[in-house]
Amino acid sequence: MDYYGSISKGYNELYKDEQLNKLTIIRNNIKLNKTAKMLDVGCGTGISSQFDCFVAGVDPSVSLLKLNKSDKKTIGIAEWLPFKDNSFDYVISITAIHNFANIKKSIDEMKRVGRKMFVFSVLKKSKKANAIKSLIAKSFKIGKIIEEGKDAIFFCQKSKIFDHARK
Ligand SMILES: C[S@@+](CC[C@H](N)C(=O)[O-])C[C@H]1O[C@@H](n2cnc3c(N)ncnc32)[C@H](O)[C@@H]1O
Repeated sequence: MDYYGSISKGYNELYKDEQLNKLTIIRNNIKLNKTAKMLDVGCGTGISSQFDCFVAGVDPSVSLLKLNKSDKKTIGIAEWLPFKDNSFDYVISITAIHNFANIKKSIDEMKRVGRKMFVFSVLKKSKKANAIKSLIAKSFKIGKIIEEGKDAIFFCQKSKIFDHARK
């Protein structure tokens, strides 16, 4: 059984409060329209999917998804998102990126399916944190970074000028 499978029953009890603190910061820093479409990549039990709009979630952990009450959850991986280009106004990934097997491919995929804004909450103590930060900076225009507890939260947008220059 994978790590999250092994802790799935206690996940909410262990992490709910700290994850909700991050969500409060994210809500306060994005102008969310109720008609917006959001994708939560690595949604787990759904704590991070609590926004007042349409929110779809994707995660590979069947045990965590069993505890996720949403009817818009999909089993899948960040490296291969089963959605069309530009399908979501917002793409978020909360304390999940360090788990992805191929972080560059995951970031490319999130960028592909997202349109307007991207929020990545990155575990600061992860050995991959610096690599994740530089991949985010290469792929997006970072508007701001807010530190909350164990994470640094990156608020990003696509940058047309930047993308054009890289082609
Ligand atoms: C610390 S949990 C965070 C869950 C949720 N975002 C939250 O805030 O409670 C990390 C999540 O990343 C998921 N994950 C691991 N590898 C993944 C991958 N390749 N693609 C998408 N999610 C993945 C795990 O299953 C787990 O649900």
